[in-house]
Amino acid sequence: MSYFKFYHFRRGSMCHQFLLFIIYLSSFRDVVALQMSFESTHTASVPELASPPSTGIFYPIEISPAVIPQYPLPNESLPPMYPTFPATYEPVLSGKCPVNFSALSDILSKTASDCAQPMAMLVGNAICCPQFSSLVHIFQGFYSISSDKLVVPNAVANDCFSDIMSILISKGANATIPSICTIKSANLTGGSCPVNDVTTFEKMVNSSSLLEACTTVDTLKECCRPICQPAIAEAALKISGGESSMIENKDAGQGSNRVDILSDCKGVVYSYISRKLPSVAANIAFRRLSACKVNKVCPLQFKQPSEVIAACRNVAAPSPSCCSSLNAYIAGIQRQMLITNKQAIICATMFGSMLRKGGVMTNIYELCDVDLKDFSIQGKIFSRLPTA
Ligand SMILES: *[C@@H]1O[C@H](CO)[C@@H](O)[C@H](O)[C@H]1NC(C)=O
Ligand SMILES: *[C@@H]1O[C@H](CO)[C@@H](O)[C@H](O)[C@H]1NC(C)=O
Ligand SMILES: *[C@@H]1O[C@H](CO)[C@@H](O)[C@H](O)[C@H]1NC(C)=O
Ligand SMILES: *[C@@H]1O[C@H](CO)[C@@H](O)[C@H](O)[C@H]1NC(C)=O
Ligand SMILES: *[C@@H]1O[C@H](CO)[C@@H](O)[C@H](O)[C@H]1NC(C)=O
Repeated sequence: MSYFKFYHFRRGSMCHQFLLFIIYLSSFRDVVALQMSFESTHTASVPELASPPSTGIFYPIEISPAVIPQYPLPNESLPPMYPTFPATYEPVLSGKCPVNFSALSDILSKTASDCAQPMAMLVGNAICCPQFSSLVHIFQGFYSISSDKLVVPNAVANDCFSDIMSILISKGANATIPSICTIKSANLTGGSCPVNDVTTFEKMVNSSSLLEACTTVDTLKECCRPICQPAIAEAALKISGGESSMIENKDAGQGSNRVDILSDCKGVVYSYISRKLPSVAANIAFRRLSACKVNKVCPLQFKQPSEVIAACRNVAAPSPSCCSSLNAYIAGIQRQMLITNKQAIICATMFGSMLRKGGVMTNIYELCDVDLKDFSIQGKIFSRLPTA
């Protein structure tokens, strides 16, 4: 079951192979954890593993091994991880949150599937939380679309938040996402931000330049030379009371309070943007912003690799369905942008660790002849040049 077995210097440069090897090693901890759980219930011999080297490679998705499903017999065919979502059911709503949720059903469904039960923890930072937080911003903007407000009133925030959660859970989302993502009903209210209505907002902020900066967020440009993020920060600073009050407050020793106000005001700015953009466009923009922020080092946006995990879970030898789903997935992320070799290493690490945490235990990069250059489109172009 170790991928050592499949590891031969079959082709390509030693350097690439070595890097992929390191990439796999960097997630050893999880493998060890899984193998130990196998061992405890089964006497099958498990290769002795040296203590995991610490490679210092960025580790974006931290999970406890406890969330990895444990199966009693490693050689028995494992139950497929997908599809195992519970059947959807009708949520019971509080009736106190005056919102037509059907108008948001696309974004609710997307969030539920990005935060689906078995995967929420595994893909939390990279996929689920950015989507959940985007939903919260969009809901805020949508709540009072026909009024002058940019936030949800305190009186109904709890009910609205619990309605949102009921709908997400009814669509298969893990109920613990508020704590995984540290988002709560207070995030809907605008908190301590002094501005929460459109009229005041538009008086203080040059909204046309804000919308110009944030209507289409270009993933590549935004990650390297941010345009929308500084526009949001500037607008938040203005509505929070501006630069002058920051100095006053610092003198008054209210530094941390100031940070909260700015962060709450950022939520109000997001709400304003949501209100002005179609929800799909707002969602794309917000997801791109968080892809830059969360994975600064790997600026690719990953979707759930559920098909790859399903196809590759039990493979021990080259398998056409596993490799074709892996290649299709990588082709999808590849189209997103040009990335550097260093970023490609980190992206490959990150994706490898997602797959392993989903139960793919063999080195499928090796099995499927996937190389580091496959993670960057420019590498693809170079590798095709000689044969083209
Ligand atoms: C699992 O392995 C044991 C012995 O190693 C064997 O007896 C059993 O038939 C195997 N089960 C399957 C489903 O292959
Ligand atoms: C709620 O929104 C849906 C979809 O936008 C629409 O078809 C429906 O008529 C709306 N219901 C009410 C009561 O406004
Ligand atoms: C939901 O996520 C929690 C971790 O926050 C995990 O312990 C739990 O098993 C998950 N639920 C399901 C059904 O996967
Ligand atoms: C929710 O509020 C907390 C502070 O209460 C803040 O740290 C966090 O960034 C907010 N999340 C979103 C998505 O606005
Ligand atoms: C707002 O910004 C735009 C540039 O994006 C500029 O042309 C316009 O003059 C600004 N309006 C105000 C009132 O400052």
